[in-house]
Amino acid sequence: SVPIVRTVAALHETVKEWRRAGARLAVVPTMGALHEGHLSLVRAALDQADRVIVTLFVNPKQFNSPADLAAYPRTEDADAEKLAPLGAHLLYVPDGAEMYPDGFSTTVSVAGVSEGLCGAFRPGHFDGVATVVAKLFLQTGADLAFFGEKDFQQLHVVRRMARDLDIPIAVVGRPTVRETDGLALSSRNVRLSPAERQAAPGLAAALFGAAGRLAAGEPAEPTLAGTRETILGAGFREVEYLELRSAEDLKPLQAADRPARLLVAAWLGQTRLIDNVEVLPK
Ligand code: PAJ
Repeated sequence: SVPIVRTVAALHETVKEWRRAGARLAVVPTMGALHEGHLSLVRAALDQADRVIVTLFVNPKQFNSPADLAAYPRTEDADAEKLAPLGAHLLYVPDGAEMYPDGFSTTVSVAGVSEGLCGAFRPGHFDGVATVVAKLFLQTGADLAFFGEKDFQQLHVVRRMARDLDIPIAVVGRPTVRETDGLALSSRNVRLSPAERQAAPGLAAALFGAAGRLAAGEPAEPTLAGTRETILGAGFREVEYLELRSAEDLKPLQAADRPARLLVAAWLGQTRLIDNVEVLPK
């Protein structure tokens, strides 16, 4: 089984010993409800580090509604059981009072890359992410941190934050893990009804179709207008955003004239799904 610590003090004790032994440390931040996407990050971390700390904290500061926070799946025992056979070395599970004690007053806010896309529709979300991830980086003192490209804007926000605050950690991005029908794995997928689950892969299919045309040089505007219709036709209720951005710095693009990313957020019933795919110009 994987050892669990719940306090910063206990985390420090373990990390101090590992440091004394000269170990290279990796951290994999999560909100739990672990699936193969999370586990792929843990495996990559185990490949590149001597000791791997998985963190589990459902961070209230990054949720936009109390209902979404309350509905977020909490499955600590099952999560610990998934981590043990992989060989993860430590599970760090702070509670709200440990992470944000009375009087907590600091916010880490990253401008630029956090604006637009999810940032436009989820006010304060990336401040919550940047604040908790900065704390996790400093609490663990890890050398490496692993994040999924599934949350592509988050990966950019975290990279920028670590660079700007001179936190000596290498942020590693890893590819999105998908179901065989293309649906990106997400802890929120469990909320889909059977009919919604059937419709859900339409989102990834629309993205991959558009990415092929954009890579071939089609201009973004008409391609994305058609792709919005495809997504709605697949049964989605609303497309929040569908945008072509530079993969390097997330700046908006009119065409894929450099390595790019096509990013989407769309509502399927009461569930908001996000996804993104690479667009490599031919
Ligand atoms: P969570 O949604 O639990 O995701 C934890 C990590 O798993 C993130 O880096 C995310 O990008 C990655 N991930 C999720 N689904 C994935 C998939 N299908 N393929 C590959 N990686 C995937 O993201 C968060 O938690 C939080 O914002 C956090 C960074 C922990 C800060 O609270």
